[in-house]
Amino acid sequence: MSRVLITGSSDGLGFMAARLLVADGHSVTLHARSQARADDTRAALPEADGAVVGDLSTLAGMRQVAEQADASGRFDAIIHNAGVGYREVRRVETPDGLGQVFAVNVLAPYLLTCLIDRPDRLVYLSSGMHRGGNPDLDDPQWARRRWNGAQAYSDSKLFDVVLAFAVARLWPDVLANAVTPGWVPTKMGGPGAPDDMSLAPVTQAWLAVSTDPAAMVSGDYFYHQQPADPHPAAREIPVQDELLSYCAGLAEVELPR
Ligand SMILES: NC(=O)c1ccc[n+]([C@@H]2O[C@H](COP(=O)([O-])OP(=O)(O)OC[C@H]3O[C@@H](n4cnc5c(N)ncnc54)[C@H](OP(=O)(O)O)[C@@H]3O)[C@@H](O)[C@H]2O)c1
Repeated sequence: MSRVLITGSSDGLGFMAARLLVADGHSVTLHARSQARADDTRAALPEADGAVVGDLSTLAGMRQVAEQADASGRFDAIIHNAGVGYREVRRVETPDGLGQVFAVNVLAPYLLTCLIDRPDRLVYLSSGMHRGGNPDLDDPQWARRRWNGAQAYSDSKLFDVVLAFAVARLWPDVLANAVTPGWVPTKMGGPGAPDDMSLAPVTQAWLAVSTDPAAMVSGDYFYHQQPADPHPAAREIPVQDELLSYCAGLAEVELPR
């Protein structure tokens, strides 16, 4: 039995992964943006062990989630799943003055990784769209460029793979991997999404808990339980170091070495 935290598990793939894991007898801690969302989610999955609450678009919310997670005890695995959309029609700025897509999709998994007691396994939700991402950190929050929601999302999902591979390199005692679930009809994916919904939460749950040797690897990118080709920039150490230092500057927290 493993103890697993899943961010953004009030809906979509996070909730589905939680359901799979509790059905296999694992102890799952849910996460939602508000107490009301957490209460609804716990009612929908009463087998879950608990829930942490915090809005991952703000630095205070990220810290709140990390504090509650640590107060509940050490996790064996954390699935960084919370994410926002690839079809944002305009750039949204958070109360901290950050670009929302970058804050939720990249800075939150970075800061939670830094702050929460190091688990044995970390899984970061990326997307096939990351392969069209731009690893350039000149304007990753789209503060100066004309907004392109699909590109901003693709960039953020590339940074998730970069983050996963950086953590895999720097924390050799932790298994850290990235996953694309396929394009599926969740709230984010939209009703026309063509991929297989039943497979979409499986790989991240498997990477979090399975003792299958294929799941006990680190620094890989998976699609439907198979290694897939990540954007080549994700394996470049200077790209990884630049992302870590950019996030450290924003969050004022360095990844512990
Ligand atoms: N669906 C796809 O086709 C697809 C494809 C590739 C990758 N992905 C990735 O898979 C992950 C899950 O996506 P999904 O399709 O399950 O999306 P979803 O149905 O929209 O669910 C997203 C989850 O993240 C939570 N969340 C979003 N912003 C948050 C915030 N500021 N604070 C706290 N929680 C927040 C949502 O909470 P609320 O319910 O309160 O909004 C929800 O629980 C994402 O990282 C996404 O990029 C999805």
